[in-house]
Formats: sequence, C-alpha cells, structure tokens
Amino acid sequence: FALLSFILHAQAQQYDESKVPAYTLPDPLTTLQGQAVKNIRTWETVRRPEIRRLFEDNVYGQMPKDFDSIRFTVEREDPGAMEGKALLKETRIDVYRSGRQVSIHLVLFVPKNVSRPAPVFLLINNRGKNNTDPDRKVKSPFWPAELVTESGYAIAAFHVSDLAPDDKTDYVNGLLRLYPEQLTADNGMKAIGAWAWGASRVMDYFEKESLVDASRIALAGHSRGGKTSLWAAAQDQRFALCVTNCSGNTGAALARRQFGERITRINTTFPHWFNNNYKKYNDRENDLPVDQHMLIALIAPRPVYATNATKDLWADPTGTFLALKNAEKVFALYGLRSALPATPPAVNVAVENSILGYHNREGEHDMTETDWRHFIRFADIHFKRK
Ligand code: GCU
Repeated sequence: FALLSFILHAQAQQYDESKVPAYTLPDPLTTLQGQAVKNIRTWETVRRPEIRRLFEDNVYGQMPKDFDSIRFTVEREDPGAMEGKALLKETRIDVYRSGRQVSIHLVLFVPKNVSRPAPVFLLINNRGKNNTDPDRKVKSPFWPAELVTESGYAIAAFHVSDLAPDDKTDYVNGLLRLYPEQLTADNGMKAIGAWAWGASRVMDYFEKESLVDASRIALAGHSRGGKTSLWAAAQDQRFALCVTNCSGNTGAALARRQFGERITRINTTFPHWFNNNYKKYNDRENDLPVDQHMLIALIAPRPVYATNATKDLWADPTGTFLALKNAEKVFALYGLRSALPATPPAVNVAVENSILGYHNREGEHDMTETDWRHFIRFADIHFKRK
C-alpha cells in the first residue's frame, strides 16, 4: 500500500491553474552571450542555430544526415483512385548507410481537378496503419483523404514504425541500426528524432516528384506525432507550414507551467522518445535552457497552427496557447502578423488568418475532421491558392 500510494503520488499530475508556479521563460531574442537580437540576420546566424542546438543537446537529440544513398521505388500507381477523382501513388523510400537500410512506405493521393504540382498535407502517422488506408475501405477522420483532396490538396502519410517502433526496448530496431553511435551519445536521437528524420526523407522524395509542389508541403502530426511535426519543421526548413495537434508536453505546451503531463512523467513512460540528457530535467523544468515557445520560434517565418481539445487537459491547452504567444516576437522580426488574442480564444473559435494559428476544440484528445477543416483554411490563407 505504501509503495502504491508513493507511486500514485509521484505520478500525480495537477490540473489546477492556481497551482501553476511563477516562472520566467528564456527569451528567444537574447543570445547565450546576453546580446539582444534585433534583426533577422542575428536571429538566423546566431540565435536560431543556438536554440536549435540547445534542443538537440537537451531534448530531441541529434539529426544526422550523412547517409550513403536514397532510392525511390514506385510500388503501386492507380490513376482511378477515389472513384476516379484522384491518383494514388505508393512509394518506397529506401535509405542506406554503412550497408544497412531503412524503408519508408509513403501513401499519396493527388486530386485530379487541381493544377499540378499540388500542395500537400503530409501526416506523420502515429496511430494504426489502417487510418491511412490506400484502398479507402477505412475512411478515418484522423486522415480524411477525401475531404483534403476535394479541398485541392494532395494528402500523404507515412507510419512512424517504419523509422522506429514506438516501444521502449524495440525502438532501436529501425533507423537507429543505421546510426548506432546515436545510442551511446547522451544527446543521441531516439524515436521522436527518428520519426522527424523520416519526414525529411519524404521531403527528399517530394523534391523529385513532379506531381507535388515541394515548396508547399504542410507537415501535420497528432500528439506524439505533433511533437514530431514541430521538431521536424524546426530542423528542416523545406517544410512550408506546420500543424501540431494536441501535442502537449515536449510538443507545443510550455514545460514550466507544470500543468498536466510533466517531464518526469513523459520520461518515465516514454524513455525512448527523447535523449538521455532530457532526463536531467525531471522535476527541474526551470533549469531547461529552452521552453517550447522556442521550438515554435525556430519554425519562423513559416506558419504554425496548434490545436487543443477541451477534455485534453493532459496536453495543457493554456500552456499551448501561451507558447504560441511567446513565440510571436520572433515572427514579428520578419514583419509577420499574429492575430492571436491576448488570452485564449473561446472554445471552437479558430484563429486562422494569422501567422500563428490556434483553436481549442470541444471534445477529446483526438484529431478530427473539424480540426482538418481548420488546417485546410489555414493552409489556404498561407499558400494563397488562386
Ligand atoms: C500519452 C503521452 C502524451 C502523448 C500521447 C499521444 O498520453 O503522455 O505525451 O502526446 O500519449 O501520443 O497520444
């Protein structure tokens, strides 16, 4: 009993706004040397690389890019998919390093009634593979391919397990076989790093695929996939837009609020997501040299859309909104307007015409058609489709 109550107590997370401690966020616009960043040049040459490095070293791990070769093999093409309304293309992306190989399977639907090359929504799929069914026997609201293609976008997805199984022992059996040195480094990449790496290899493929417009790729992810979409877009500036849905702790929510899921808890339940160094911040959020508003800031000047759900306090909706707000000044360096109000917008009210977008949907921790309709409008605005 004593042990059980100890465990329950140690893992108890709090949902009481009045218990959020006072905190000071690190300033995205002050360098480690204490210099104020006043222009894009200093941001891009000094502060941005500094912050990116801090996230690599303390949170997500390194992002190695030294592979030997990459190959794209079309596995299936169906010009009559979706009752003739779209082209289906399934491609295997093989990446080789030191005699080892990893294969990413990509599903892509390109609508026919849209001028090509088409803009794309790419989902990092962290749920069942049937959510992205190429045969459309399963039509999941998690990846509403019909809705997205009818709205003039191509839609694509790959599954995280192609890069790293989402398991605390088995995660090494994927991309990390190509980069074994990552496993022994305290700032080595683990599963979320590997998933983000995979998104970049899909981008390598998009750059060679004439059906799609590689300059208009919107990267989307839900929850652990949304933590990944942020890290991938922060790392790889070829992604033109980032959607992070209910991503919560070590995603779009501020760690220092200590509301809902906390670092100790995420590192305990999912020790295979973040690097070894991140464990040093268990119960020590204030010692982190970064907070999640700085991850969002790394994506500037590209638009970021974050969401929450009212019943998903675990992912700290207020902390997510505040992370966006505290990233605004970096976007302002580029003269980009954020239309986020001073305090969180009302439930179900979406802020779309803004470089930083947000909504808090009524309901559960999930990604639904309602969420996707907002992503589409946000992309419409930023991609300025004619
Ligand atoms: C768990 C985890 C979250 C994560 C979520 C998900 O709840 O604690 O951090 O976002 O799973 O991926 O659905």
